[in-house]
Amino acid sequence: MDQKPNLDVVVLAVTTLYQNPDRKEKERASKWLLELQGSVHAWTVADELLHQKRDLESCYFAAQTMRSKIHQSFHELPIEVYGSLRDSLLEHFNQITEDTSRIITTQLCLALADLILQMPSWQRATLDLINRFSNQSYIYPLVEILTVLPEELESRSVRLGENRRQEVLEDLKECSPTVIEFLTHCCTTYAGNLLKNSLIIARTIRCFTSWVSVEAVSLNRISDSVIVNLAFQILDFRPHEGKESNIQLSDAATDCICTLLRSLENNNNQIELENYLFNNILQLESSYHYSVANEDQTRSMEYCRLFTELAESFLDKIVSSSAPNNMHHSVKILDLVLMCVGHHDYEVAEITFNLWYLLSEQLYQLSNNNISDLFRPYIERLITALCRHCQMEPDCEGILEDGDEFKDFRIKVSELIRDVAFIVGSTSCFRQMFLNLQNAGVTWDQTEAALYIMRAVGKYVLSSENEVVPNVIEAIINIPETTHIAVRYTSVLLLGELCEWIESHSQVLDPVLNFLIHALAQPGLGAAAANALQNICATCSDNLSRHVPILLQLLHQIDTFGISDEAVVGLFKGVSTIIAVMPLNEITPAMRELCLMQVNPLCHLIDQNVSPTKGTKTDPVMWFDRLSSILRHVIVNNIPEGEVHPCKPVILEIWPVLSKAFDKYQNDIRIMERCCRSVRFMLRCASHQIHEVLQTLVGQIVRIYSVHKHSCFLYVGSILVDEYATDPRCIGGLIDMLQMFIEPTFQMLQEEHGLRNHPDTVDDFFRLCGRFIRRAPMSFLQCSALVPIIQCALLASQLDHKEANVSVMKFFCDLINQGQTGQSQPDYAERHKLVKDILDQFGQQLVTSLLQACVFYLQMYLLPEVSDVFVQLLDFNRTTTSKWLMNGLDTLPKRNNGGIMAATPEQLNDLHVTFIRATSSRSVTYVLKDLIRYYR
Ligand SMILES: *[C@@H]1O[C@H](CO)[C@@H](O)[C@H](O)[C@H]1NC(C)=O
Ligand SMILES: *[C@@H]1O[C@H](CO)[C@@H](O)[C@H](O)[C@H]1NC(C)=O
Ligand SMILES: *[C@@H]1O[C@H](CO)[C@@H](O)[C@H](O)[C@H]1NC(C)=O
Ligand SMILES: *[C@@H]1O[C@H](CO)[C@@H](O)[C@H](O)[C@H]1NC(C)=O
Ligand SMILES: *[C@@H]1O[C@H](CO)[C@@H](O)[C@H](O)[C@H]1NC(C)=O
Repeated sequence: MDQKPNLDVVVLAVTTLYQNPDRKEKERASKWLLELQGSVHAWTVADELLHQKRDLESCYFAAQTMRSKIHQSFHELPIEVYGSLRDSLLEHFNQITEDTSRIITTQLCLALADLILQMPSWQRATLDLINRFSNQSYIYPLVEILTVLPEELESRSVRLGENRRQEVLEDLKECSPTVIEFLTHCCTTYAGNLLKNSLIIARTIRCFTSWVSVEAVSLNRISDSVIVNLAFQILDFRPHEGKESNIQLSDAATDCICTLLRSLENNNNQIELENYLFNNILQLESSYHYSVANEDQTRSMEYCRLFTELAESFLDKIVSSSAPNNMHHSVKILDLVLMCVGHHDYEVAEITFNLWYLLSEQLYQLSNNNISDLFRPYIERLITALCRHCQMEPDCEGILEDGDEFKDFRIKVSELIRDVAFIVGSTSCFRQMFLNLQNAGVTWDQTEAALYIMRAVGKYVLSSENEVVPNVIEAIINIPETTHIAVRYTSVLLLGELCEWIESHSQVLDPVLNFLIHALAQPGLGAAAANALQNICATCSDNLSRHVPILLQLLHQIDTFGISDEAVVGLFKGVSTIIAVMPLNEITPAMRELCLMQVNPLCHLIDQNVSPTKGTKTDPVMWFDRLSSILRHVIVNNIPEGEVHPCKPVILEIWPVLSKAFDKYQNDIRIMERCCRSVRFMLRCASHQIHEVLQTLVGQIVRIYSVHKHSCFLYVGSILVDEYATDPRCIGGLIDMLQMFIEPTFQMLQEEHGLRNHPDTVDDFFRLCGRFIRRAPMSFLQCSALVPIIQCALLASQLDHKEANVSVMKFFCDLINQGQTGQSQPDYAERHKLVKDILDQFGQQLVTSLLQACVFYLQMYLLPEVSDVFVQLLDFNRTTTSKWLMNGLDTLPKRNNGGIMAATPEQLNDLHVTFIRATSSRSVTYVLKDLIRYYR
């Protein structure tokens, strides 16, 4: 957009966007408006539209544009115009009235807040605003701007740099007494009629909360605060006072108290405030009961949040100061929380889950049974309550469907139970649930829930348990077919979770297996049976060889049982693990049978030219996934020296089919990826013994890659390198393969945005190179493609995105590492020299690229990978790396009067000093984090 558009055109576009029913027109308008927002003309257009106030929509567009420009494109403005932008915004702000739409007000407040953050010359802006606007009769906009300012600082959504952030925080701290005074004044003015003034009171409390949250408010004397007292007054809600409930108010009050509790966790010297909050929150018990009696779910949830937050902030004390017969007095909060867990609605109980995790975490760290025992009664009550929440509706006829909210809740319960079970002991939890089943008059839904809880701890039941588990297993394998399907379903899954117990009691193995095989074919139970079978096959593989024939027979019919593909793949995995531990001479025929079950249908699809339909038997992917599962899990160990690998004959048989599939489906990336995956596990399975396939395989992947550039072929290449590059007979061929991969790869990556558009290729290509360096360093370091590869890696590392990631960093690490590892090996001197030459040429560039990437582009989670590279460099030669770092840091912006987002030269100096002393990846990561903070 070269010229500033006419305002009429803008207004027309906005109207079209909001009102024109024609979707095409709407899209065109939206696209054009986005383009306008991206151009520098947006500043003036927004300002003028705000002045003209033509209609609601154009004002909203203008306010939102103004905000996003200040938020994201503030650098477009020269420093001289900051002042006039501020004055203009203040004028718009001044014109807000009770009739102004609230979304417009919010956008203007955000715009102003983001301006304050980025305009160091406007000091004490908060006081300025209060002076200008606190005498107005409509106080809402002022409260709103005072709320969003700390929120914007805290959310870090505007890039400010640590120096500026600290400066703003100090400024807010200095202004906070005046702000509190103003908010207190609002409260006293409006609290007389809470309901009528609920909006402004709620906003005032929220404003206070945002100042507490950013820690701009001193916590001393908060208990005298009119605002906090008002919050408790709102929450203290009893029937006889005949008040009306107001969501806005109670929500704001709850947030306020919870935020105070959280800020206590960071300032644990506030005894007075702590006691004040404790006493007042405990008082709320009767209000909670009242909300339950009134079926006011929202409020019940708010009280539950308060009790839970209170417990979390007292948790350290409760755990560390409790002793037998002398629990810390605050432990009674746990009773309140358990009271909420007992609420009939599971959504209330769910609010407390995090607390129980934290408690179990602390007790686990202490690993002191005497202390854990103190909390046993609480956890027992928790488990009992959770078991009740897990009961399905009595009139439900089937099982819970995937994606059902209640099913998701039960999964969370199951995870929680696993975490806390050690406090009561898994075995005793299991027994307790079983005892509950013995009560007279137990309904199916109670039974099912108890079995569900037992399933959660089944894996951890001691193998010495001989009272309950045998009865449970006995009962399950004799379960009548008339029992509710959900009970049978959960029972079957429970059996699978008992796999470890079953492993050490092999006498039950046969009946259990027979039961599960039978269950596989029963309507509704197939998936559960497949899951249980998979568990048992994997755990008891040593003792199941004799069952292989029947299992194989079963697998032949597997598609008639209506089980999901995923469960079928799991079952193939289970059976494969059994086959892997059979006597060597029995492996080959069993493995052949298993593989042919997949390869024969594939052959048919290819030869008959059947066109694939996703998710059906005509989809090759289905067969590849099963084949992969087999090849991956038949891992045969202990093959005597000189023996043929039992999988080798099978692989030589199936490879020609895979090879045909490569040619047949080469256009279809989805199928190619899965076929490559099968080939990958095929190579891993019998690695060193299948040289026969190498030549055709390499020839084929190089040929297809040069046409289609599917990155999965690079991946297969990296497996080949991993398995064969140490073999002198293969290395020449593999280097040729690398050379042939390079041309098509670089062609693609050198297109515009090539690196960004093909992250998988970057990933797979550098994984391939990394493996080469590790397996055959000398050949790789001497290969003629080395320099272009390094140049490409440098580009990838500096790219403004995540793709420049793990593989590339790992490549650099491996490269440098070859210059300093294996010092006793004969080739060391030469290797060291080759790496030194590379670093002499590229070291500075690498260091500068990495520093800039960290500061400007990379996501935090990638820092450890970058740190590894720096550690390698420092280890290689600390002196030269120090120099490179100095130069690299020198390329970064430095703080002066204009730019706010930068470190000072002294700070950079200090960082350099710590940097060059670092010896571990962790310590480098800390330095990098400190550095980045100054720039974001
Ligand atoms: C509020 O005070 C400002 C500055 O003191 C003054 O310009 C403005 O007229 C006052 N507004 C009202 C509504 O009193
Ligand atoms: C637990 O209590 C027992 C008996 O009071 C005591 O002998 C033991 O040392 C305590 N264990 C720990 C880890 O404190
Ligand atoms: C396998 O099971 C049999 C009987 O079922 C048992 O005697 C044997 O000890 C078990 N072997 C192993 C290795 O568990
Ligand atoms: C690199 O980043 C891309 C995109 O974020 C991601 O898909 C890929 O898995 C990453 N590679 C590695 C090795 O983490
Ligand atoms: C580091 O590199 C410098 C410059 O190339 C060299 O003088 C010095 O000896 C090297 N130090 C080590 C420990 O190799």
